[in-house]
Amino acid sequence: MANEVKGAAVDNRWKILEAFMKVHQYRKDALIEILHKAQELFGFLTEDVLLFIANKLDLPKSYVYGVVTFYHFFRLKPQGKHVILLCLGTACYVKGSNKIVEYMKEKYGIDVGMTTSDNLISFMSARCIGACGVAPAAMVDGVLEPYFSVEKLEKKIEEWKKEG
Ligand code: FES
Repeated sequence: MANEVKGAAVDNRWKILEAFMKVHQYRKDALIEILHKAQELFGFLTEDVLLFIANKLDLPKSYVYGVVTFYHFFRLKPQGKHVILLCLGTACYVKGSNKIVEYMKEKYGIDVGMTTSDNLISFMSARCIGACGVAPAAMVDGVLEPYFSVEKLEKKIEEWKKEG
């Protein structure tokens, strides 16, 4: 059973992004749409993601960075020590990911897109991270967390606080 969950817990986002670029025939003029898709999948744009896109579209990385920093709707990696990226796509939402949003607001005073004042946690959201079979799903520090819940979240945060 545990293995089944692990087997399902694969980060499919790169494949989804690649398929999206393929649909757009890796066209350079589709860069904005591709960046939007990447942000939808990853919640924010990390260096790895930007490099992946730049390579696939055969564009200089500096150009891709230029576009990302020019438009205010693109988000670069948040500054928190730990990053919780919660999926708010339909499958995860109906399985209760919104309860985690409410919990973060009540307990830590932060909404999605925000970082706690001590910089311990950045709380981000994405729209479908390609793990609907294990909804509600989240990526915590880049690792897929299947069947995420308030209890699991609280356990992680307690561990981080102990680490200091
Ligand atoms: S909707 Fe959350 S992983 Fe697909």
